[in-house]
Amino acid sequence: MEFHEQSTSEKSVVEVKVMTTNGYPRINIEFTPQTTILQFKENLAEKAQCLSKQMRLSNPGNGKRIDQLPDTELVANILRPPITLILCICPIDAKKPTSSIPEEAAESNNSDELAVDAVRQQVRDDYNRWAPVYDTGVNPTRDLEGEALRRIINETIQLGKDNKLDLPPLLNILEVGCGTGKNSAYFLSDEFITTVTTLPYADGARFHHTGIDLSPEMLAIAKQRFITHPSTYFCLGDITQQWESFLTHEHHAFDLIAYSLVLEHIENLDHIFAESARFLKRGGLVYLGELHPIKQYLGTKARFDAEGSGGKMDGSDGTTIVRCFVHHMSDFIHSAEKHGLQLLRMEEFFDDDSKLSANSVYNGIKVPRILALLFQKK
Ligand SMILES: C[S@@+](CC[C@H](N)C(=O)[O-])C[C@H]1O[C@@H](n2cnc3c(N)ncnc32)[C@H](O)[C@@H]1O
Repeated sequence: MEFHEQSTSEKSVVEVKVMTTNGYPRINIEFTPQTTILQFKENLAEKAQCLSKQMRLSNPGNGKRIDQLPDTELVANILRPPITLILCICPIDAKKPTSSIPEEAAESNNSDELAVDAVRQQVRDDYNRWAPVYDTGVNPTRDLEGEALRRIINETIQLGKDNKLDLPPLLNILEVGCGTGKNSAYFLSDEFITTVTTLPYADGARFHHTGIDLSPEMLAIAKQRFITHPSTYFCLGDITQQWESFLTHEHHAFDLIAYSLVLEHIENLDHIFAESARFLKRGGLVYLGELHPIKQYLGTKARFDAEGSGGKMDGSDGTTIVRCFVHHMSDFIHSAEKHGLQLLRMEEFFDDDSKLSANSVYNGIKVPRILALLFQKK
């Protein structure tokens, strides 16, 4: 289930799409400032459950089942003012042409209908298949990157506290390619939120986290994990498109944009850094944690077998190798600089000696697994 929110001064409209066997019905729930979030969520959960079970809707749709409703839009009914339920049935547009629209805004960001080009489609399909075993498979890259992120961000916050770095308080965070929420767990922990909201320069502002991902199946796991968390919003989106196509809510000026193991799937870094700079506050940070380019030169790629672990590097055992692009270290740094993002810190993370694998060592030299870069918007 996806949803996004648009606010005006008088009312808010939330569009919800719920996957059913018949496609992606949309529910628009309109609510006034008097409607509490809890009421809204309960309302939403109730409608979503109703739709996903293909039950009869008691009021809208004249008692017809969803799968009997016309494919085109149906404005069903007004429940009772001031809450309006509008039910629309949208056919799955699986045959939407994909090759001509890679850089265009998706016409709708919150469903599997997301219009993407062929590369994105392949990456999305692979991550959809990886999702059920992504968290459980043996994956040293996933785990070490998590450690890198926590270390770099914690140390950076400390530098801000000690007045050694001029920083915004990291209260508004965009996690790009959040996947199943491995790092969302860190950002949404009580410890992290308490730290950033009690910084002397936080000025009592509220904390907000946004997670965005291309794969509905990866995202669904993250959403389920944090379903009751009051300070997060997860949405489907493709970062190779204009970011307005998915960042449609009010939290637009970010203090931190974090990428963990995402940019190896992106060919054009320039677009990503341009958009990051556009959506960052002045002084805001971009964190990147990537499979180290040296590992990539040696043939390592994002890949998974049926258990979610990395199988053979050439895929000969049925292992799926996700489409990747090699970026040199200087590619990241030059592209970021071009868009006003200055390198603050560069770190390399290595496997523990106890966990070395065959390709952790090259000619007797330990190869770094993770490259972590931290940039600041000037
Ligand atoms: C290796 S996973 C990393 C997930 C998570 N950040 C982590 O560290 O565990 C890469 C993620 O990037 C997402 N991704 C790839 N291309 C993307 C794109 N163009 N837009 C948004 N997300 C994308 C994938 O769907 C996937 O969930």
